[in-house]
Amino acid sequence: MAEEQAQESEKTIESMLAEGRKFPPSDDFRNRANIKSMEEYQKLYDRSVAEPEKFWAEMAEELYWFRKWDSVLLWDPPFAKWFEGGETNVSFNCLDRHLKTWRKNKAAIIWEGEPGDSRIFTYHQLHREVCKFANVLKKHEVVKGDRVCLYMPMIPELAIAMLACTRIGAVHSIVFGGFSSDALRDRIQDSGAKLVVTSDGSFRRGKRIPLKSNTDRAVSVCPSVENVIVVNRTNLEVRMKGQRDHWWHDVMEGESAECPPTHMESEDPLFILYTSGTTGKPKGVLHTTAGYLLYVHMTSKWVFDLKEEDTYWCTADIGWVTGHSYIVYGPLSNGAASIMFEGVPNYPSPDRFWGIVEKYGVNIFYTAPTAIRAIMKDGDEWPARHDLRSLRLLGSVGEPINPEAWIWYYKVIGKERCPIVDTWWQTETGGILISPLPGAMDIKPGSAARPIPGVVPVILREDGSEVGANEGGYLVIKQPWPGMLRTLYKDPDRFKEVYFSKYPGFYFTGDGARFDEEGDFWLMGRIDDVINVSGHRIGTMEVESALVSHDVVAEAAVVPMPHEIKGQGLYAFVILKEDVQKEESLKKLLRAHVSKEIGPIAKPDKIQFADALPKTRSGKIMRRILKVVASGEEDCGDTTTLADPSVVDRLLRDRV
Ligand code: PRX
Repeated sequence: MAEEQAQESEKTIESMLAEGRKFPPSDDFRNRANIKSMEEYQKLYDRSVAEPEKFWAEMAEELYWFRKWDSVLLWDPPFAKWFEGGETNVSFNCLDRHLKTWRKNKAAIIWEGEPGDSRIFTYHQLHREVCKFANVLKKHEVVKGDRVCLYMPMIPELAIAMLACTRIGAVHSIVFGGFSSDALRDRIQDSGAKLVVTSDGSFRRGKRIPLKSNTDRAVSVCPSVENVIVVNRTNLEVRMKGQRDHWWHDVMEGESAECPPTHMESEDPLFILYTSGTTGKPKGVLHTTAGYLLYVHMTSKWVFDLKEEDTYWCTADIGWVTGHSYIVYGPLSNGAASIMFEGVPNYPSPDRFWGIVEKYGVNIFYTAPTAIRAIMKDGDEWPARHDLRSLRLLGSVGEPINPEAWIWYYKVIGKERCPIVDTWWQTETGGILISPLPGAMDIKPGSAARPIPGVVPVILREDGSEVGANEGGYLVIKQPWPGMLRTLYKDPDRFKEVYFSKYPGFYFTGDGARFDEEGDFWLMGRIDDVINVSGHRIGTMEVESALVSHDVVAEAAVVPMPHEIKGQGLYAFVILKEDVQKEESLKKLLRAHVSKEIGPIAKPDKIQFADALPKTRSGKIMRRILKVVASGEEDCGDTTTLADPSVVDRLLRDRV
């Protein structure tokens, strides 16, 4: 039986979406790019793989070190130590280093609030605020190695608090402001945080979410927490508890703006960020100082082609890794002007993003496919209202981007001038591992293209052998890279088990992928989102992409359903475009369409028209719930982390 299963899984994950189009950068883009040609990329890449230690040592010269390292890499799988013996400080690299240059009065953070208020911090001003808050932390007896939990909206104080932690060597653990008080409690308890920074509330589509009262509930059962510092953002009424709670504006008042940076060892912990695993208990991904900083510094330069004069905007929330690496640490260490936005793409109107692009003259814009599809659904007239000529590069992250969304993004937002970097990575990887380098490569919609220098991805069959071109398999990373997670907080056994047990010595990503005959990578989603239909494995993303490529479809999600003959069948949830009627006859049409796009095997067995999908507040579809609906069961489990839990009842009611 075990052998049969093994044989079964050795059959390849089939990739059936043929997408042949290629989009080269313009000559102008290429000529000005940091990396200008495939030859240049290949040379850099080959060198990085042939002599990784020499390569990364050379790159590390870009950072400021108080003391240089003794060894570049000590690799005792699965534990890596980068730049042992070296001493540096993240806030020093992100701030102080720029103060003796013309960047002193360059915008570091350009912040736009949900109600339309805005604040701009130059490097000089940001440095002052960070030093002041670092002194506040010290006064509240936070010392090197202590954990500080940040449960905050997307306001400048969040970035200030992060950088202040790094200045004195405290380890930050940011909990996304959309999480519930229970989720916050679990994370505080796991990290043993000593101090929490929060706000009275946060804005969400004009409503005020009570972060402080969530914090009160959580902290009441977290004895490790000694102090809570509260930013006043929304003027919500809050209860301040005696000795424990302090207003940010009070503690900052009169504080000194001088705070020498603590000399941190390369492998000193920098932050913990919790992410979901296959079990219910969140994993505390631990990143450390020097390797992480170097990795986000270099990838920002390579992938976003950052230039001194660029205004760069990553729309992620800092509560997720994308915000850590590519709103704060990567851009600031490069001296960029980084936009931070508190709101959502379509509030108060569906052109909110484009208004901001126009207002600040954004050059580089990095967002998620889910946002692109949502905006696309609202119609082309919204971006058409704004001058988007400042844009020169677009990016995508978080899930595979279906070619139709890619093409829309390219045409309607980028006006066919801007390369799109589809960046593949994970909380665990710290930074981008696979992505086009925009001046060097012809881009294929839906492909994440090539590995970043120093990254060696391979795709394996179940038995550990490497796949051939266009054969799907498990994506693993063969060699350590500086940005990789070092362990799971207080749980090295789980770290080993989750990431290094399936193929010992190799980092297991949990994603399926293939590479094509030219060596470009195509991500196929999580292994657990791959469905086995009649012994053929089909990436759900590919079926979704086929569905979305039909004119009437705005969004689709496909999950497995039990099927008597095929083992598993495909159950598709389809959201139709606004003006399309939900007619039964459409279902036949869509099946035929998928059959045409991919093959008869990928035809959904069932299609349910829905008004909305169950999404987390960060926009990820909660497939677990769709699987329950599709399998005919009733119990959807915990739905409290959904942006709108009422979606579930409607899905169950309309089940087909
Ligand atoms: O399945 C991959 C998908 O998102 C997962 C990582 O999620 P998280 O740790 O939350 O980090 C998201 C932001 C980096 C991956 O295992 N993913 C992320 N980017 C892409 C992607 N899948 C396909 N293409 C991408 N560009």
